[in-house]
Amino acid sequence: MNRINDLITFKQYYSTAAEKIPADSFFHETLNHKFRHSIEVLHWGQYILEHTPELRDKDNFFRDLAQKALLFHDVGRFEEAVRRYETVQNGVNLTDTLQLCDHGRIGFELLQNRPSYNDMRILFSLLWHGKMMEDVVNSVMFDELKDTPYFKETMLILRLVRDADKLANLRVNKELDHLRQDIFYKQLSAEILNAPISTDVMNRFLSHQVIISSSLRSFADRIIMVISWFFDLNYKISKKIFKQQHYADFFLEMLSQYHKNPRDITQIKDCINHEL
Ligand SMILES: [Fe+2]
Repeated sequence: MNRINDLITFKQYYSTAAEKIPADSFFHETLNHKFRHSIEVLHWGQYILEHTPELRDKDNFFRDLAQKALLFHDVGRFEEAVRRYETVQNGVNLTDTLQLCDHGRIGFELLQNRPSYNDMRILFSLLWHGKMMEDVVNSVMFDELKDTPYFKETMLILRLVRDADKLANLRVNKELDHLRQDIFYKQLSAEILNAPISTDVMNRFLSHQVIISSSLRSFADRIIMVISWFFDLNYKISKKIFKQQHYADFFLEMLSQYHKNPRDITQIKDCINHEL
């Protein structure tokens, strides 16, 4: 196991992308953010590993695969930023480049071509970490994987990456107020900022389901989506951290500034507190 080599390889992907985007571009900051985020996801993942018996008791080979998946889970974001930067240069609006490509698939294809990373226990996490779990279990790839000897380990690593990714994003959203500091918040219309939680999003939350970004209609939806990540945490220690960091209270307080219906806020609070 050699983490230094992984870090060097990872940095190469970052540097190759950084050379193609001017330092003062929004997309250059995206690259920097994704680089820091990936290191943080590796750290959270290692913490979960150490505090979860079914992961801690695995051999060094498994831990190596898990750490590679954690560090490289968003490697496709670098190439995605380059493609979005070039598209904006060609006159396309920044918001219209949001769904330009699937960073999971880009990452999957990049590492599939590198012998030291071409292992489904790594690649599966790259492709699926950002998708809904129901889409994962309904996929052809999941079906094919089920009959292989490394199915269980693949799922352990996918759950680890998903948890670590959310813990890193929760921290940034709370400590750096990332939801309101990013460029998209500044572009939101008063209508979207003042709109309440949309009905579909509310119903999904109340049935303890994760909110997907494509269903967001208001800024309030975006905040409740962050709270809903709790429903997708897999390991006990991840849920414990969510509780210890008071994420529910913090984002509920923010939510009450945008969704001005105290009865709904109480209902949401009861729903999440029931789970904590
Ligand atoms: Fe991530």
